[in-house]
Amino acid sequence: MCGIVGYIGKRDAAPILMEGLHRLEYRGYDSAGLAVARNDKLQVIKTKGKVRDLERILPERIKGTTGIAHTRWATHGEPSDANAHPHTDATGRFAIVHNGIIENAGSLRAKLQASGVVFRSETDSEVIAHLLATFPTDKLEDSLRAVLKLVTGTYGIAVLDAQRPDSIVIARNGSPVVIGIGDHEMFVASDPAALVRHTQSVVHLDDGELAVVRADGYATSTLDGGATAKTPLTITWSDEAFDKGEFAHYMRKEIAEQPEAIRRTLSGRLEPRFQTTHIGGLEMAARELLEVKRIKILGCGSAFIAGSLGAHLIEQLARVPANAEPASEFRYRNPVIEQDTLYIAVSQSGETFDTLAAVQEVKRKGGRVLGIVNVVGSSIARECARGIYLHAGPEIAVVSTKTFTCTVVAFALLAIHLGRLKDLSTAQGARLLTALQALPDQVATILNQEARIATLARTFARYENAYFVGRAACYPIAMEGALKLKEISYLHAEAYPASELKHGPLALISPQTPTVVIMPRDDLYAKNLSTIEEIRARSGPTFVITQPGDPLPMNVDATIEVPKSEPALDPLLVSIPLQLLAYHVALARDRNIDQPRNLAKSVTVE
Ligand code: F6R
Repeated sequence: MCGIVGYIGKRDAAPILMEGLHRLEYRGYDSAGLAVARNDKLQVIKTKGKVRDLERILPERIKGTTGIAHTRWATHGEPSDANAHPHTDATGRFAIVHNGIIENAGSLRAKLQASGVVFRSETDSEVIAHLLATFPTDKLEDSLRAVLKLVTGTYGIAVLDAQRPDSIVIARNGSPVVIGIGDHEMFVASDPAALVRHTQSVVHLDDGELAVVRADGYATSTLDGGATAKTPLTITWSDEAFDKGEFAHYMRKEIAEQPEAIRRTLSGRLEPRFQTTHIGGLEMAARELLEVKRIKILGCGSAFIAGSLGAHLIEQLARVPANAEPASEFRYRNPVIEQDTLYIAVSQSGETFDTLAAVQEVKRKGGRVLGIVNVVGSSIARECARGIYLHAGPEIAVVSTKTFTCTVVAFALLAIHLGRLKDLSTAQGARLLTALQALPDQVATILNQEARIATLARTFARYENAYFVGRAACYPIAMEGALKLKEISYLHAEAYPASELKHGPLALISPQTPTVVIMPRDDLYAKNLSTIEEIRARSGPTFVITQPGDPLPMNVDATIEVPKSEPALDPLLVSIPLQLLAYHVALARDRNIDQPRNLAKSVTVE
């Protein structure tokens, strides 16, 4: 999804902007560009394609110490040189880079065209550059304020004025922008990943805020001009955490990082003395938690799926009714917000627009909402103000792996905490804590089976359609397995509760359609054996993910075994082989694993 970078200081801006753009590549984009101010003029270079394509056409000695840059993910208008940002007004005085969507761009464009303005792109963003030229004031921030009063929609925006290169002006409404504080130099970005190499001290703008950023400081204000006070936040992620290291893909690196990431999610949160967990960021006393009658979990994609498994954990261990719903659906269906329901928003990036909007809807209607978020200081984390940080480290591959696992671990911590306030016994609590502590090593032993899973994946890669089935808490695992596979291998995959197979999907079972059956040796094991019989009777290839025990009573195409945990945590372990399966199928099909087509890491638009 679109990315913004800006620099103002003593150094040449272009190399810093280019390096920032490279850092944002993981988010997914289709064109890139930059603008650097020098001698009252703007040098604007942009192109369809990748940051390396921009590098190729960049003049060797592009000078100037103030600049803005952008990676675009097309919304209005196809990927093209003209539609790439920055956009400028007719005189070339103002340059803008914009993330988000200007909803009234059509009418603003028509008015500007009627007054003689010629547009050079099909984007909604270009109107901002032309509008700036209609409000030229002594202060760029005043011009931008006047323009933003006219636009409706969402924006994270950075603006450069050729005649005033001593500042960059930024503003935010629904799309993130942060300021990075350096030593007599300042950075601007839509994602801290772009500036973490230069500084770890950042200031996040809130919706409705604008900032004037100069080399030696910044001033934030509301759109009406009232000054606002901000406290810088320290980013703990190191620059090295953003490197691929020895791995061929970020996804593979992030799969391998899971044991360590789970350890960090657990760190300081287990209380063996009381057979419970301690979650500092929860900020809810026992009495408040006991008053919760229902839990509603909101998220998108894998975050929603992890939330679905979280709901099972909460119901199983704490006996509180819980369910998950895609945040994108929830926010549009005029949901009933209940005082005795606890809402939980789940997001790796903390910037997913639909999830953020759902949180705002819950809060507007007086509901309580907690966040389970990976990125510290992100919009959803700040909007929720309380919750659980995953501490999984940066996730760069577009598809989520380690943050899915760590989110499930966070739900387990919450479910045990809640359960121990209610009916979960000390013995059960103690067993669960022991099982949680064992998870990192168990995940590592599953990762050791990679060679076998890779061989199996090469067979799997020949199919065009696949089913993933599981029962109860393993149904979300089937959903996650199918989602991972379709996202990166483009193989069509569907997930069903195993019990639903005979109610329709069985019609498509054939030697050309394999089924992955997810079946830990739990109470539903025998039922799953019947499911396998149904599939085998239609000559469907069957791949089974299970745990050590008696051999299966029938022939299947392959079996992968994962170690046993506590029953509540078994689904988490059976999800790990599915990540490796998706990765190796995508590898066999020669796909762009870290940046699959049409997908973006952080979906900051509706
Ligand atoms: C799937 C995937 C997406 C995200 C979804 C939510 O592999 O990565 O489905 O899970 O876009 O993103 P976050 O968690 O950042 O809110």
